[in-house]
Amino acid sequence: MKKRVLLITGASKGIGLSLAKSALESGFDVYNFSRTEGDFTHPNLHFIPIDLVDTISAVAKVDSVLKSLQLKDYDTIGLINNAGVLEPMYPMGKTSKPELIEEHFSVNTISPIALSELFIHELNRIDTYKFILNVGSGAADYPYEGWANYGASKAALHYFTKTVALEQKKVSNPVILALFNPGRTNTQMQTQIRSASQEDFPFTESFIQAYEQGKLNSPDVMAEELIKKINNKTILQGDEISHKDLLS
Ligand SMILES: NC(=O)c1ccc[n+]([C@@H]2O[C@H](COP(=O)([O-])OP(=O)(O)OC[C@H]3O[C@@H](n4cnc5c(N)ncnc54)[C@H](OP(=O)(O)O)[C@@H]3O)[C@@H](O)[C@H]2O)c1
Repeated sequence: MKKRVLLITGASKGIGLSLAKSALESGFDVYNFSRTEGDFTHPNLHFIPIDLVDTISAVAKVDSVLKSLQLKDYDTIGLINNAGVLEPMYPMGKTSKPELIEEHFSVNTISPIALSELFIHELNRIDTYKFILNVGSGAADYPYEGWANYGASKAALHYFTKTVALEQKKVSNPVILALFNPGRTNTQMQTQIRSASQEDFPFTESFIQAYEQGKLNSPDVMAEELIKKINNKTILQGDEISHKDLLS
């Protein structure tokens, strides 16, 4: 039987970890690219320390993993650009720290774009089911005060994904590009949102209520549904996969 592999950024915790666990159960080899390893271990889970703030070094590390794999032996090869950050989270002009803005966009936008470029470049001659799933956010389409960086960085990733999906539609051996919007999901990122001050993020109360009313998505349940789609090869070019469709 041919092998299957997923490269996931930010699989040390949260949605990325749930995706990794579910993929491992389905027989995938999984590479986790994050700063910390997390507690979970598995013989087919490989941890590659990476800091997406440093795009050049991150691309080099993913490149060396891709070059170490016999790509022709794989039936499915996926890159999931899942890692993401919210900070800096406050109204623009509260301070002036360009280094925080640069770091934010490196993690949420520039590194995922550069990793997508690498993946397409390395895989465009390999005839297999290959895809890039970029994890976006509802904040890309709805402006939340306090999240100017986050909304803008995710909107750029959305636009990039949709544009490259159009390009790949025209090539003979395409890489599938799709977006995934997890919605409000019960991870450390939500804990961080609930602890934000009203001054920095005026929507904190609504996120606290959603948590208290049990309205947050379960990362494990959602990951299971997404991995089913990957198993069935039903992620298609330009798809925008919403948590609402997955969990309905
Ligand atoms: N949770 C939600 O409600 C929600 C809603 C919409 C969209 N999303 C999106 O879903 C994705 C996953 O979110 P989550 O809720 O699972 O977040 P999370 O629990 O905070 O996990 C974030 C992951 O990203 C990694 N990461 C952060 N900064 C990194 C860096 N500089 N270099 C490498 N890895 C880094 C973290 O690993 P290390 O700390 O080990 O580096 C961690 O594994 C994000 O893109 C987020 O924007 C989440």
